[in-house]
Amino acid sequence: MSMAVGSGHPPYLAFEGVEGAGKSSVAHAVVAHLREIGIPVVAVREPGGTEVGEAIRHILLSGEHHPRARSEAALFAAARAQLIAEIVLPALEAGSWVVSDRSAYSSLAYQAGGRGLPVEEVRRLNDIAIGGLWPSQVFLLRVEAEAGLGRQAVEDRIGTESAAFFDDVVGAFDALAAAEPDRFEVVDADRPLADVVADVLDLLKVTP
Ligand code: TYD
Repeated sequence: MSMAVGSGHPPYLAFEGVEGAGKSSVAHAVVAHLREIGIPVVAVREPGGTEVGEAIRHILLSGEHHPRARSEAALFAAARAQLIAEIVLPALEAGSWVVSDRSAYSSLAYQAGGRGLPVEEVRRLNDIAIGGLWPSQVFLLRVEAEAGLGRQAVEDRIGTESAAFFDDVVGAFDALAAAEPDRFEVVDADRPLADVVADVLDLLKVTP
């Protein structure tokens, strides 16, 4: 597998997918395995992961605030800018792998695919926010929206969107993976956690 994408940094891995795809559990297990075999790894989640990011997460997800689509995209990008500057880039520069639960690709799927903002605009906004530091490898944990939402009761402001919204998100993730096959690995996540984790470790070539 190509560790892509020409940065010279250690791998910066992102787990993506719709609600209930199991991103957090898979990311957690992969991080544990990497550490067990002696690879230094910093784990982060989006939105959040920094003090600024957690404050923005509250604005975005608590339901107390009602940002419009462009504002929502800008807030996700701002949280991400802080995370990259404060944690991700320093970790990579220090020689650590970074494993991220979501990334800028979530904004392409949710704010473009779900909310209907033009995808190229969301891409540009994020490219500026992250200073061009996109994940080197993205694992798209693929489940149908209905199956994912059936597995995970989500009560935050975005998690309670309509079924059509999540179908659009799933479709947008599929399109992103198809458009960037060198960066994306699509993993069938409608299976037991252990099987999904085994596939990811296999793709990373870090199985014992
Ligand atoms: P997350 O905390 O990962 O929750 P979940 O476990 O439900 O996946 O994400 C919170 C919500 O924010 C989720 O509905 C996805 C959404 N989101 C976006 O809309 N855009 C983004 O850029 C990110 C990172 C998340």
